[in-house]
Amino acid sequence: MKILLLLIGLGLGLAVIALLMKLSKHIEAVDEDMDRQKEPNTAWEEKLGSIKNNLEGYNYLAGGMALVLILIVIYYQIAGTPYEGHFREWLNLVVRLAHVTFGIAWIGASFYFVFLENALNRTKDVREELAGNLWAVHGGGFYYLEKYKVAPTKIPKDLHWFKYEAYFTWISGFCLLCVVYYFNAKGFLIDPNVLDISPVSAIAIGVSSLVVGWLIYAYLSKSPLAKNVLLFATVGFLILVFFAWFYCQVFSARAAFIHFGALIGTLMVGNVFFVIIPAQKEMVSAAKEGRPLNPELGKHAGWRSLHNNYFTLPVLFVMISNHFPSTFGNEYNWAVLAGISLGTAGIKHYLNLLEKKQESVWVLPISVFLLLAVVFVTAPEVSDGECKEEVAFTTVYAIINERCISCHSAQPTDDVWTSPPNGVMYDTPEQIANLTEKIMQRVVITKTMPQNNKTGMTPEERELIRCWIEQGANL
Ligand code: HEC
Repeated sequence: MKILLLLIGLGLGLAVIALLMKLSKHIEAVDEDMDRQKEPNTAWEEKLGSIKNNLEGYNYLAGGMALVLILIVIYYQIAGTPYEGHFREWLNLVVRLAHVTFGIAWIGASFYFVFLENALNRTKDVREELAGNLWAVHGGGFYYLEKYKVAPTKIPKDLHWFKYEAYFTWISGFCLLCVVYYFNAKGFLIDPNVLDISPVSAIAIGVSSLVVGWLIYAYLSKSPLAKNVLLFATVGFLILVFFAWFYCQVFSARAAFIHFGALIGTLMVGNVFFVIIPAQKEMVSAAKEGRPLNPELGKHAGWRSLHNNYFTLPVLFVMISNHFPSTFGNEYNWAVLAGISLGTAGIKHYLNLLEKKQESVWVLPISVFLLLAVVFVTAPEVSDGECKEEVAFTTVYAIINERCISCHSAQPTDDVWTSPPNGVMYDTPEQIANLTEKIMQRVVITKTMPQNNKTGMTPEERELIRCWIEQGANL
């Protein structure tokens, strides 16, 4: 009953937010119609218009805050009840969906513009003021695009900006980091076998590392080092490797991977927010006021945009690798991160060259070789010791009862996991028999279960489980 009321409350809350948004959009549209009829003719009117535009941005902020508030109220209503785990799972799902969707919109737009830049026709029938043009067909329509060398003589009123994709990707990503790792720091963020720290300090380290990483990057990008591309890339890469190593000394392996991804993602969004968009704003206002453009601005924004382009594949790979224990369940997991980053950035480099029709012979093979090396390094060291005796199921059942059931049960007794993680339960022999492949993967090969080896499983017990599965997992 309580849950039903909460859901109705959530629905009503969302409806109100949507209504307010709609109302503000309506006002905006009316204003725009008025604007069209009457261009602002005094500086004062223009100023008023810009203040109003800024205020409109806050509508969305207010809507978002209201939503968060509703969620917090719901959470406190059901905290401690069996619905808590369920609520968290759905929150995780929804935030993840938002993150992936914004991410696709952002990276998709970024890929598209890099493609445009590389594929522009720059020679045939190009007007003097243009850098190039491009014909395309998509979704049943023909498109013709033109790129200006600098800026059009008159900046159009309806200029489309690409920025919210990036901002929302970061915001939803940070929310996901909170939902998965920070709200459950004891369960996911901290591994006492790596470093036994309190949730508060772990979260503080995580968040501040993103800020520090950005500051270092922002400083280096403006320093003289940036003039030498190869040197800049090398130093930048080494610093990233340091961060990878550092995260792996502080967090659980999985949290270390996600923080590395979050760091690169933060650099990318930082580039958009602090460099690219301000540069574009300055360019637009200079063009409007008829001031000469500072070519350095556009160049620097382009250079940061290029960094983002190289970051895309590594960041995607790292985010996905988080779901594959064979990548992070490894002694040298920080080196795996380094290899993945370099290899995928290399592939991006190859693709960029390809689009510019400057195929290089060695970039692709070296990158692929590096990634293959990662596959090789992460290959499990499965003991091939002979299983002398037939292992009875009773032995295995006893081990699982002792080491796994505290979490993987319909009624877990663990202090952190109050509902069975991923819905995996080992209460009955059949449940165990149905999951032998995954047990092999997590317990014997990657040794990523029991989580953080919280229940103290011994290597001998892992061997017994391996033998039992290899002998056919008989009940
Ligand atoms: C301290 C709690 C805890 C203990 C003890 C524990 N697990 Fe887990 N297990 C988790 C969590 C949390 C997850 C989900 C996150 C993940 O996949 O790493 C999980 C996931 C799994 C998965 C992956 C399920 C999937 O959908 O991919 C398997 C398999 C698994 N555990 C097996 C075991 C086995 C076998 C044991 C005992 C040897 C064990 N676990 C002990 C917490 C635990």
